[in-house]
Parts: sequence; structure tokens; C-alpha cells
Amino acid sequence: MDGPASTKSASRRSFLKGALTGGAAIAASTALVGRAGAQSDPLVTDVQDWNRYLGEGVDARPYGTPSQFEEHVVRRNVAWLTSDPISSVNFTPLHELEGIITPNGLCFERHHAGIAEIAPADHRLMINGLVEQPLIFTMDDLKRFPRENKVYFLECAANSGMEWRGAQLNGCQYTHGMVHCVMYTGVSLRTILEEAGVKANGSWLLAEGADASAMTRSIPMEKALDDCMVAFAMNGEALRPEQGYPLRLVVPGWEGNMWVKWLRRLEVGDQPWHHREETSKYTDLLSNGKARRFTWVMEVKSVITNPSPQAPIKHGRGHTVLSGLAWSGNGTIKRVDVTTDGGRNWHQARIDGPSLPMALHRFYYEFDWDGSELFLQSRAIDDKGFVQPTKDELRTARGPNSIYHNNGIQTWHVDSDGVIENVEIS
Ligand code: MTE
Ligand code: CO
Repeated sequence: MDGPASTKSASRRSFLKGALTGGAAIAASTALVGRAGAQSDPLVTDVQDWNRYLGEGVDARPYGTPSQFEEHVVRRNVAWLTSDPISSVNFTPLHELEGIITPNGLCFERHHAGIAEIAPADHRLMINGLVEQPLIFTMDDLKRFPRENKVYFLECAANSGMEWRGAQLNGCQYTHGMVHCVMYTGVSLRTILEEAGVKANGSWLLAEGADASAMTRSIPMEKALDDCMVAFAMNGEALRPEQGYPLRLVVPGWEGNMWVKWLRRLEVGDQPWHHREETSKYTDLLSNGKARRFTWVMEVKSVITNPSPQAPIKHGRGHTVLSGLAWSGNGTIKRVDVTTDGGRNWHQARIDGPSLPMALHRFYYEFDWDGSELFLQSRAIDDKGFVQPTKDELRTARGPNSIYHNNGIQTWHVDSDGVIENVEIS
């Protein structure tokens, strides 16, 4: 199949052909996409207002926002999911995004007690417990340590949780939108811990938030010293209040709940604290009545973002671009396979853009849609060899009662009109 480059030159060729012969729509277009006879289109031939009149000057938008025509690209909540928006979640509009970086204003939000509004001058980070010297840092202090820039996905353990027992929500924004991926700037947690001096028996770390939920999680010291960060910026600017301004913990590849926002305290201990979020919540109830605990890694997962229920196929049959996202808390994505017939035939998708460990990966599969019904699925494989399971495989392994850590294969049904629905076939 021709690539996008030849598509472009083919449509330019047919446009030139029309221009030279002076007639509209004479030749049947040989282009995969694009139409011949552009001369009969008033949007091409007539002068438009935006071409005729001067636009707004440079000071009209001191902090830029998206075009008025992109108003529909917003985070969305599912009202019936929680009783109050203070302790709730909204979802990233994955079907509207490109590449691997989530714009700051579209990163999903999950708060247990609303958004804390903290002036950076009033924020403190304290380290205590099993350390040589308990310390308190201001934001200015933290910015005097060596910094690093890292791109990571953050996925809530409950992402896709509603789908555990079967297809529920109609759109990848709702089924998979508790994930975002940004570039963080901050200081490695190791640097901060070394400044305080971890005692020999310091094997666990408690991270605590300054919000009204005082979110608290136990983190093994090995992970804390490996790749965690305290971050004050995302995508080049200060964290947004929703994401923990002025300081949040970054725990690459691990469940979002551990990425404590509004981070105010780190306590070093010699055992985990068994807080609410690691006992009654964020544990997985198995069929035998026992619960899996400390299931930190977000395993290999993928989803087709376009086409999908909120992004149906509107162009009819012919050349169709399928696009999606894949990620793994274990490392990079090595391969993504895509099927259009519910798993009878698999095709290797094309991964485009940076392939960074514990970051989103963007994949594409271009195909010629003949207008027949489709069952679209994607299956990711990470660089440690883990393969994304089917939902049946997950339920067999963990029983029917789980919510968290659903990385099962998602199916979209496409009907002959291009309308798409969330279904389950395996
Ligand atoms: N940290 C604090 N202090 N309070 C919270 O409610 N929610 C956690 C985590 N850190 C939370 C928190 C959960 S469950 C998730 S999934 C992530 O933050 C969400 O991060 P985000 O809102 O930046 O997407
Ligand atoms: Co969460």
C-alpha cells in the first residue's frame, strides 16, 4: 500500500491535471484520499473572511488556549460513577489526541478530597523517620538540587475497572482515559533521600499528600532509590493545581495512586504502613477470597483510540487510518498487533514517535475498509516479553471480582455505517 507521502503527491498530481486542462473534475482521481476538481469548491476559489480581514494582535491571548473549533476536546466525568465530584475522576479524551504527550489541560484528574490550592511559598516537604538528619525543604530549596527531565505515563489502577465484568462505557475516553503521559521536571528522590541520609534499616518510604485526603502510600526503598522523582513541572511549565501543584511524587510504571500529589512528607521506615489505600482499596479480591496486595506495576496494555465509539468512521469505505496507544510499566513497547476481524488475522502495527520506557507509545495501522462490519482489537507486547491478555484470560487468572489492573484486550465493533460500539468477544 502507498504511504501517506505518495498519497499527498498523488492528490497534488490530480489537482495539477485539473488546472492544466482548465476543467473541473475531469479526470477520475487516482489518489487514495483527496478529491479531484478542487476548482469548483468555493472554499478554494472564493476569498474568505479570515483572508480578507486582519486578525487579533499578539496581546489578545497572553496564555494561549485551543482554537474555538476544538471546544469539544475536554476531560469528561461520568456523573453516576461517584456520588460527589470532590472525590471522583474525569477522563483524558484519548480519541482527540495525537503523539505520546498529553497536553496539561487534558490530563485526567483523580482527587480523593478535591484540589488543594497551595501557594508555593507556603509549601514544605519534610523528611523524617529512619534518617540521619530529618530535613524540611522549601520549593526554592528543592530547585537548588540537580534536575532531570523524564517522560512517563501515569495510569490509575482503576483504569478500565468498570469493564472487568463486561463492556460498559461507550468510548475510549471512559474505558481507558485514566492515563496521561507528560514530561516531568524535578529532582530524583534518591538525591533528596541521600541529603537526609537513610539509615541502614530504612527499607520503606511513606509518601503523604497535603490535601484534605492526606493521601498516604508505602513505597519500597528499592523503587524510591531507583527512578522516582519529586516533580515541580510538567511539559515545561509548573504542575497544574489538579496534578499536585507545587510538588508531586513520580513513581514510573507503578499505579497512579502512589504518585502522591501536593507531596508534603516522606517518612523512612522499616516496614509498610498498611494504610487504607493499600488494604481496603487498591487490592484485588481473588476468587478464593484472598486479596492480592502491593500490585504496583501497571502491566502491558493498549487501546485503539481511532476509530472508536466517540470517533466513528465518517469517510465511508476506502483508505482508513487506525491509531492507538500502548504502554507498559515494565519498560518499552516492542510490538503492537492489530486485528480488524476479531482476532482471526493479526497485523503488525507501525509504532511512530519516541519509544521511551514507561511512556505511552503511538501506533498506526492503515487499511482499506470495504464497508463490512469489523471487530477491532489491539494487543501490545513489551520489551520484557509480556503479552497483553484477553479479558477472559484475566478473569480466569483473577476471578470475577476485581476492579483494578484490567489490562485486557479491548474490542470495538464497527457497523457498515461506521458507527462504533464497545463490545466484548474474548
Ligand atoms: N495524591 C493526593 N494527595 N490526593 C489524591 O487524591 N489521587 C491519586 C494520585 N495521587 C491522589 C493523589 C490517584 S488514585 C491517582 S490515579 C493519581 O494521583 C491521579 O493523578 P492526576 O490527577 O494527576 O491524573
Ligand atoms: Co487512581
